[in-house]
Amino acid sequence: MKFISKSEKETFEFAKDFAGKLDKGTIIFLDGEMGSGKTAFAKGLLSGLGYKGEVTSPTFALCHIYNLGIPILHYDLYRIQDCDDLYSTGFFEDCGKDNITIVEWSGIAKEYFPEAIQIKFEYGSTPEERIITIE
Ligand SMILES: Nc1ncnc2c1ncn2[C@@H]1O[C@H](COP(=O)(O)OP(=O)(O)OP(=O)(O)O)[C@@H](O)[C@H]1O
Ligand SMILES: [Mg+2]
Repeated sequence: MKFISKSEKETFEFAKDFAGKLDKGTIIFLDGEMGSGKTAFAKGLLSGLGYKGEVTSPTFALCHIYNLGIPILHYDLYRIQDCDDLYSTGFFEDCGKDNITIVEWSGIAKEYFPEAIQIKFEYGSTPEERIITIE
């Protein structure tokens, strides 16, 4: 399905609703150019899952963990260049186990998790438009 978002808030609210559909063990891959709204979407997911605090991008930490009854893992693999690096993050032990795993820049991990929900972010025709496609 495709959703056209007109603002960061719309992206957030759309993701917040979408979070209601997520079961334990779900992996969500968020991909698209820089600034296309992946983190904005992740913030909405976390809000929908019940998180009240501030969510920041895990670009440098690689993974932020939120404990909401079950752990919610928020990865950003932008800086991960190869599979050895990915192994050393613990990603393979954690991904999709007793948690919900959200992954920005999933490229390098994609082939290992065909069961993941794939969400694609694209720029639209106006500065604040984003096209969000869910497979
Ligand atoms: N419709 C929209 N949805 C989401 N963000 C929007 C929208 N319109 C404008 N923006 C702006 O675009 C930026 C999206 O930033 P965000 O950090 O979510 O992108 P990202 O895809 O996670 O980037 P990165 O690849 O650097 O992690 C924010 O500055 C936000 O305010
Ligand atoms: Mg981001």
